[in-house]
Amino acid sequence: MVLSMKNLKDKIVVISGAGSGIGLATAQAFAEKGARVHLVDIDGARLKAAADKLCGFQITTHLVDCRDGQAVMQLAEEIYRQDGRVDILHNNAGVCCGGPVHEISLEDWRWSVDVNLWGTIHGIRAFVPRMIEQGGPAHIINTASMAGLVGLPYVAPYCATKFAVVGLSESLAAELAAYDIRVTTVCPGAVATNVLKDGRVNLPGQWLSKIQRAVDRFGSDPEAVAADILAAVRSGQSLKITAAGSMLPLWILKRASQSVYDRINRLATKFASKL
Ligand SMILES: NC(=O)c1ccc[n+]([C@@H]2O[C@H](COP(=O)([O-])OP(=O)(O)OC[C@H]3O[C@@H](n4cnc5c(N)ncnc54)[C@H](O)[C@@H]3O)[C@@H](O)[C@H]2O)c1
Repeated sequence: MVLSMKNLKDKIVVISGAGSGIGLATAQAFAEKGARVHLVDIDGARLKAAADKLCGFQITTHLVDCRDGQAVMQLAEEIYRQDGRVDILHNNAGVCCGGPVHEISLEDWRWSVDVNLWGTIHGIRAFVPRMIEQGGPAHIINTASMAGLVGLPYVAPYCATKFAVVGLSESLAAELAAYDIRVTTVCPGAVATNVLKDGRVNLPGQWLSKIQRAVDRFGSDPEAVAADILAAVRSGQSLKITAAGSMLPLWILKRASQSVYDRINRLATKFASKL
């Protein structure tokens, strides 16, 4: 039987991409429950600001690029040396890349795959063997996206990598149940964070600036997503759809009728590219 993680006090948590947005909000939410949180990010200034914000909580920051498998391995060694175990691993770092699919450079494709997919793989390779060895219940959270459930236009590298994270997480969940390790795949819709501002997205017309304004205005708060993530960990939920907005009916429609979904997706793309 796989036990769920109800009491978070003194649990050891590792979160990548924790300098901003969903990762930072989740780090804060875990820290407020008494967990000891390791915040990992590629951006030192963000880590410093996060450490200032979470001053007084049990936190440690680590400047690590999740694309670098060796560096993630060293991170795991360091954390196990310090704390002896990891109860919750959150592979969350992610970047957004998009544009007309035939115009996206190889460099941008590699950046997306390296951060979104390899970053998650590196986290799994570095931590899972140790989590199995330590024994007892543990939990892995992988941040995917609604773009990992429905194929959205003009963000093919993002969708491709997030679909991959969804598949990877499902495999992982099935395999790790035998070791008392649960896996939650988090699929947020639009959340007001830095992901688009930091992204490499080249959309036609005014589409990008309109999307950015809409996300800033109507996107969910990262704190609400963090609360959903904690609830999913506590209940042991395997798929957590959060802040999905209009993408939820689209996903439901896709499951009900792929052909109707395809038609609507094509029409929406035609409409949006005229914006
Ligand atoms: N914001 C949204 O609308 C949304 C929706 C669905 C999924 N997501 C996913 O949520 C996750 C968190 O994104 P966010 O929205 O909070 O964005 P964010 O940009 O606010 O935070 C992402 C963090 O990841 C860090 N990062 C980037 N590359 C890294 C690397 N190579 N190594 C380590 N850290 C790195 C960034 O410095 C940043 O602090 C991502 O996986 C993203 O794809 C976001």
